[in-house]
Amino acid sequence: MASASAGAMTAANGAMASDGAKVYQTNCSSCHQATGEGVPSTFPPLAGNPTVVGDATKVIHIVKYGLTGKVVVKGVTYDGQMPAWGTQLSDADVAAAVTYIRSAWGNKAGAVTTAEVKAVAQ
Ligand code: HEC
Repeated sequence: MASASAGAMTAANGAMASDGAKVYQTNCSSCHQATGEGVPSTFPPLAGNPTVVGDATKVIHIVKYGLTGKVVVKGVTYDGQMPAWGTQLSDADVAAAVTYIRSAWGNKAGAVTTAEVKAVAQ
């Protein structure tokens, strides 16, 4: 898929918004903000977040099935609730959104495919 890497390359400046950027703006930016900076102590930042650019399977799992409990990001503790998106978004949308957050705002991690999202079980 040539378009996946092109999307990742253009995601950073927002030009030629990929599907992932659109999925993110629609479903994620209300909490994590369009800048990926989040809201301190309430919604963790995704920009410069080691978890987001770390193990892809873990990121997919969080987005698909949600997250509760304490996480510490950049020295700030979050103890909130991340909704599960697997019931609302298609595997392709989750793949696009995860690819976007791993490549936007200076983040530099690889794209994930729809097949990878499908394979991550609860
Ligand atoms: C209603 C607010 C809300 C929305 C909308 C939301 N999130 Fe979250 N997200 C959270 C909260 C709160 C946490 C931290 C959960 C915790 O404290 O356990 C979180 C955590 C995360 C994490 C893990 C961060 C870490 O360091 O462990 C990722 C990745 C993530 N969200 C991605 C997304 C994506 C992608 C979307 C859109 C599909 C999205 N979020 C939509 C509230 C939200």
